[in-house]
Amino acid sequence: MPLNALPSHEDKHATVRSMFDRIAPRYDRMNRLLTAGLDQRWRRAALDTIRVGSGDRVLDLASGTGDLAELAAARGAEVIAVDFAGEMLRSAQKRGIRAALVQADGEKLPLPDRSANVAVCGFALRNFVSLPNIFRELARVLEPGGRIALIDVDRPTTPVIRQGHAFYFDRVVPFIGGLLSDRAAYAYLPASTAYLPPEAELIEMLRRAGFEDVQRTSHLLGAVQTLTGVRGKTT
Ligand SMILES: C[S@@+](CC[C@H](N)C(=O)[O-])C[C@H]1O[C@@H](n2cnc3c(N)ncnc32)[C@H](O)[C@@H]1O
Repeated sequence: MPLNALPSHEDKHATVRSMFDRIAPRYDRMNRLLTAGLDQRWRRAALDTIRVGSGDRVLDLASGTGDLAELAAARGAEVIAVDFAGEMLRSAQKRGIRAALVQADGEKLPLPDRSANVAVCGFALRNFVSLPNIFRELARVLEPGGRIALIDVDRPTTPVIRQGHAFYFDRVVPFIGGLLSDRAAYAYLPASTAYLPPEAELIEMLRRAGFEDVQRTSHLLGAVQTLTGVRGKTT
């Protein structure tokens, strides 16, 4: 995928926000189509892994149209969904997601320290400008012992699978995206995996931010990853 599909560091914030504002109306349908509905299975699995349920105070960071927020609310959790793209939140509102919807930058969350006991984030890590800043904010708003589950795409490592995946992700996805939504946005989607640090670095960043018991799970032969962890009690 051409790296010129990626905005420079300085432009990333504004470019990503306007891109999600543009694709918001068709975002959910495109997700279901491009993953054959598996995206919701990965979200449910993440919530299962960190046992989200009744009584939890959940932050859905970069909530988009509210898929994770909706699933967490259906389990009886109280949910705050934060995203910086107004149109994504408007779609969440139209869907009637049972969550407080807040428009804000994930690097400066308008939430008090230790105000949540769970934080989830679906398919947004590669969109942030600074992952260390995001992880620090998550640690700040979570109470000690609070749980996180962060889902994002990944690239398989087994050569044959990697090739097949690259054909689908780098060629088919932008083609379908161009036909049904926005070609630039669906070219950015595979290209943006280049922003994701390798596994060991990602895990180390989370540890440095104060998370313990950090685990990584792969789905669909390495096409998707979920990181889970617990906010340490000493930080
Ligand atoms: C691929 S979408 C994922 C939406 C949703 N979490 C899901 O599971 O479908 C990425 C979302 O991250 C949001 N986002 C990116 N950077 C952000 C930031 N710095 N602060 C808040 N939201 C951000 C975008 O607006 C977009 O809605």
